[in-house]
Amino acid sequence: MPALSQRTNALGTENAFVVLAEVNALQRQGKDIVSFCIGQPDFPTPANIQDAAIAAVRGGKHGYTPSAGIAELREAAARYLGNMRGLNIAPDDVVIGAGAKPFIAYMILCCTDHGAGDEVIYPVPGFPIYESQIRAHGAVPVPIYLREQRNFAFDPDELAQKITPKTKLLILNSPQNPTGGILTRQNMEDIASILRKHPQVWVYADDIYCRLVYDGKFVSIAELPDMYERTVISDGASKTWAMTGWRLGFAANKALAPHFVRWVTNTDSCASQISQWAAVEAINGTQQHAEAMRESFLARRNLIVGLLNQVPGVSCKTPGGAFYAWPNVTEACRMIGAKDSEQFRARLLNEAGVAVLADIHFGARVPDEGQHVRFSYAASNEAIVKGVERMTDFIKKNSK
Ligand SMILES: Cc1ncc(COP(=O)(O)O)c(C=O)c1O
Repeated sequence: MPALSQRTNALGTENAFVVLAEVNALQRQGKDIVSFCIGQPDFPTPANIQDAAIAAVRGGKHGYTPSAGIAELREAAARYLGNMRGLNIAPDDVVIGAGAKPFIAYMILCCTDHGAGDEVIYPVPGFPIYESQIRAHGAVPVPIYLREQRNFAFDPDELAQKITPKTKLLILNSPQNPTGGILTRQNMEDIASILRKHPQVWVYADDIYCRLVYDGKFVSIAELPDMYERTVISDGASKTWAMTGWRLGFAANKALAPHFVRWVTNTDSCASQISQWAAVEAINGTQQHAEAMRESFLARRNLIVGLLNQVPGVSCKTPGGAFYAWPNVTEACRMIGAKDSEQFRARLLNEAGVAVLADIHFGARVPDEGQHVRFSYAASNEAIVKGVERMTDFIKKNSK
């Protein structure tokens, strides 16, 4: 076979899909698996949004659109993003994409050069696509560690130390995947005051979980003085309106919008027009379904955190947002003789039929932070009760 490029060899993946394949194989063998692997709402897309998509198809709205997106959606998204953050965002600052995910690549491509030693600081544990895209585009990944002691924020002094003249981009994600942690206003202010000393650094605010905040109010770095100018706000329809498969995201920044548009023209041409009309309804229509989903996730969060904290050898902080719990299983690993969270995860799946992801699926394990696994609690109450019960029995039975 002719050789592959270094870029392709550097490309990572979402290991969630690897675990998912293991789960599917076990299910095909007839095994009963309770799965907490998938990071997507387990609700149907609300009916008013489905109806808007059907009307778009029937109304002949299924051709290409401008790469930036239809004007109706850019306007709706500008108002929506601006209102949540107290900002005045112009429709021209907004670009529509095929999900929020492509903007991670566009952002890195817009502000780093391949092989030039440009550095990107990103959270670990974190969404694995950050590191994968940084490496694939020939930039230098610089992890910043989220700490359990800090409710999964990072130490601002660590950020200050990690910024160099080569730092081009800081990626922030709050509420966060995989810890469910949120950055507080104080955290954001600390970050902003460091950034003000480094005008060369762009910020990518991955706000995809911004409507799933349970404790306090959502804060975006973009709303702090001088920050929007250098910040790309990234959000989308996937998590808020249960629309992961519709592939619809939006990003806002005045300076970068025209460049993102060229990237969209060069890659997807445009997001699906049908999904764009659905998203107009998602934003402008009733929010009662989105609110009901949030309430349901909050109740499940309380259920799973309460249950996990009763499991021998497990302790779980209460996550402030998203739909993930990130219990510390260091002691449980010791009790059952598992060498680390990955061995714990594999045994939990094969011996107890409970599927979770391990911390190493979200970047190299953070020094001195112990062992963690991720539960996505976008699952029914019955599944949560059954899954945690199985985990308890598994640890009790195997304790040495
Ligand atoms: C932190 C984070 N950012 C972005 C995305 C991608 O979202 P989308 O479906 O809009 O591409 C996800 C999806 O899991 C995520 O967890």
